[in-house]
Amino acid sequence: MVALARSQVVMPQGAEASDFEADVLAGLSATPKRLAAKYFYDGVGSKLFERITEVPEYYPTRTEMKILRDNAAEIARLIPPGAALVEFGAGSSKKARILLRAAPALAAYVPVDICREMVEQEAAELRPDFPRLKVLPVVADICFPFELPGEAKAAPARVGFFPGSTIGNFEPHEAAAFLRNAAEILGPGATLIVGADLIKAVDILNAAYNDKAGITAAFNLNLLTRINRELHGTFKLDSFEHHAFYNRGRNRIEMHLASLKRQKVKVAGACFDFRAGETIHTENSYKYSVESLGGLARGVGWLPAGVWTDPDKYFSIQAFRLTGAPPVRPAE
Ligand code: AVJ
Repeated sequence: MVALARSQVVMPQGAEASDFEADVLAGLSATPKRLAAKYFYDGVGSKLFERITEVPEYYPTRTEMKILRDNAAEIARLIPPGAALVEFGAGSSKKARILLRAAPALAAYVPVDICREMVEQEAAELRPDFPRLKVLPVVADICFPFELPGEAKAAPARVGFFPGSTIGNFEPHEAAAFLRNAAEILGPGATLIVGADLIKAVDILNAAYNDKAGITAAFNLNLLTRINRELHGTFKLDSFEHHAFYNRGRNRIEMHLASLKRQKVKVAGACFDFRAGETIHTENSYKYSVESLGGLARGVGWLPAGVWTDPDKYFSIQAFRLTGAPPVRPAE
């Protein structure tokens, strides 16, 4: 079984590192300067994110876990017997475990992640706990089409799972493209279960990204440490500052790194000028309403099939069903 799963793991080694350099150089050359949020998650960054999920102000992770636990039986009713559960961007399978326990008739679990070590380690930890389940990891970038393992394609149904409000890191048009891609991968009759952070009072949102312990600030600044280490960068960490605020007009938290003075920084041999107060835009975290995410999903063929929230309506688990053939991809 392990050998079979391994043969399905295909991803060119080293592709990640070279993309990092090209993306950083392009982002620092742009106006305004920007860096992609996906680069937060090196070893240290992933640990810092785990710590963010434990600070009192950061409500999303614990709220989503509680919604999943409190409604597991009902959510599991959307999962037909013999189905394959496909998790998009499966960092840790903590959330999937709740569904796997609630839906024992699942035949296969397909964690999909860009990080090979992560999916393979998670798969190895899951197998002994769910001996009847086929765990079939796939290494792929969830933003692009990828092949499902044969056993998942052959299953009577496929259910997608995209928790963590990761969908909020996409621009709305990218979120729509992701949902269309998921429809194509999962195929006719599929179900998709998405975790999305909800629009709410601004002070609660701002506090969640400005924790008193400074873990979110360290998480944001770690991107500069990573650039210094991996790309021969000369960023001085004490001359940049974490900024995070809710942009009401665009329904998103923005994270930036602000230069505290006029300075020059070298990265991979290139030189970049910073004005005092100039920022690098490092993350958008879009917030949705049940209606706005539903509208985005409906536009690419997904119909609402269930919504679960906490009593404060801070976070949502939203289910969609695909009827008929997947919508046609627009011409490139
Ligand atoms: C992992 C994308 C859901 O947007 O809340 C946490 C990342 N950034 N604190 C989020 C994050 C700053 C997080 N997501």
